[in-house]
Amino acid sequence: MTTLSIGSTAALSLRADVLVIGAVKGENGAVVAEGSESIAAAFDGRLTDTLSALDATGAEGELHRVPTFGAAKAPLVLVIGLGERPADGFTHETLRRAGGTVARALAGVKKAGVALPLAGAEAVGAFGEGVLLGAYSFEAYREKSREGRKDAVKDVVLLGIKGRDKAAKAAVERAAITAQSVNQARDLVNTPPNDLNPKDFAAIAVDTGKNAGFKVEVLDDKALAKGGFGGILGVGQGSASKPRLVRLGYTHPKAKRTIALVGKGITYDSGGISLKPAGANETMKMDMGGAAAVLGAVAAVARLGLEVNVTGWLALAENMPSGTATRPGDVLRMYGGRTVEVLNTDAEGRLVLADAITRACEESPQMLIDVATLTGAMMVALGNDMYGIMANDDTFRDAVYDAATRAGEQAWPMPLPADMRKQMDSPIADLKNMGNSRMGGGLLAGIFLQEFVADGVSWAHLDIAGPAFHEGEAGGYRPKGGTGVAVRSLLQVAQDVADNRI
Ligand code: BES
Ligand code: MN
Ligand code: ZN
Repeated sequence: MTTLSIGSTAALSLRADVLVIGAVKGENGAVVAEGSESIAAAFDGRLTDTLSALDATGAEGELHRVPTFGAAKAPLVLVIGLGERPADGFTHETLRRAGGTVARALAGVKKAGVALPLAGAEAVGAFGEGVLLGAYSFEAYREKSREGRKDAVKDVVLLGIKGRDKAAKAAVERAAITAQSVNQARDLVNTPPNDLNPKDFAAIAVDTGKNAGFKVEVLDDKALAKGGFGGILGVGQGSASKPRLVRLGYTHPKAKRTIALVGKGITYDSGGISLKPAGANETMKMDMGGAAAVLGAVAAVARLGLEVNVTGWLALAENMPSGTATRPGDVLRMYGGRTVEVLNTDAEGRLVLADAITRACEESPQMLIDVATLTGAMMVALGNDMYGIMANDDTFRDAVYDAATRAGEQAWPMPLPADMRKQMDSPIADLKNMGNSRMGGGLLAGIFLQEFVADGVSWAHLDIAGPAFHEGEAGGYRPKGGTGVAVRSLLQVAQDVADNRI
């Protein structure tokens, strides 16, 4: 576990293993960034010479290690490239990514001091968030292969900040709470499906609620049957692990509005009887990434004590083929009474979400956001780094997009064309769970969900199928595997509602 703090000790006299400084692009290669001047001065010109001998350019993400040979108490300087120096300061995302890259380069280190141009509390928070997110790696299942792996950096001190700087302190605190939630969501996504079934997930939600201070209620399969949750039950009935619906409740005595967050929690998506082919199911433990994001966001809201009411709904089921599984052709009676003809059991996310959305709307929230690894089609449309936002209210959609962008998560608004709805007319039931073709599959799924949103509720749907799981190598503050995407967006939306910005 990495801890982050602030300090006003002069960089040169800090007892640490590494000093982190910044470099920017200059005309003839890297130039030491502001905030690091005292260190450059202590090197008496040799730092710039060394960087030039190393062909350092100052490009974003570039790393160099330079021994201090006694010029500072710390034996080593780590130089992180920050790219062009913008006139109005580095963007928060540049600082967040730099923090992540630095944290990974510091693996194995006990204590590091950071002397970077962090102008203002928000910059401190962004860099700190990057450090705590970048230090993450999933080690829980290593035994023999743990040998030789370095632990995450232990202590990172952000220098040049007075202990009395309340705003900086609060920003570090917020970064720690945010990273704790994002990293928990990553752990949940990375945990193999044999160790995380709906019951296990519900138990973790109960623990998290105790720890962070919010209410948790769990509906098990019996309670779901009694309540008529045909969507969740229909998806889960093929599995030996029975489904759950979990309600998270956070309230603030002064809150004026309530936002409901609904997460798709398919702990494993085999496709069911419409089985996925080999090659398409190896990463399907990620299919609960939406529910993980909702749990993380509610926990962060509670820990920060934001002035808003939040309900969280985790629609948890395992989608498996078996003699008890839903068949293509079955009709499910959803929570609230509507009927859905299931033509493809692999379009299961919308079925569990429909029940959860209907249930969430019964409590009349002003706003509802659902988060789901819902469609391959959204990945085709937007790639692996961006999620799609659909909504029944353009103003709300734009507000969610704006919040996501400020939080440093890439997203893009997508439409919900009304005339696509008729593709989901069923010959025998109220609607069917897919359209006529694969074309526009992400939008069709959104239009399906829209059917279950109560009038008067501003609703947005985040399809995070692309960015929920990162199959490439770690980079910036994004690790391999589960990314915890949407936690920061949801938290920013909640913050914006609390601040009356939304
Ligand atoms: N969980 C998948 C979507 C998915 C695919 C997420 C790849 C992440 C990576 C979802 O349940 C699914 O299978 N969707 C189908 C819907 C189709 C059958 C209408 C899809 O997108 O192919
Ligand atoms: Mn599926
Ligand atoms: Zn799925």
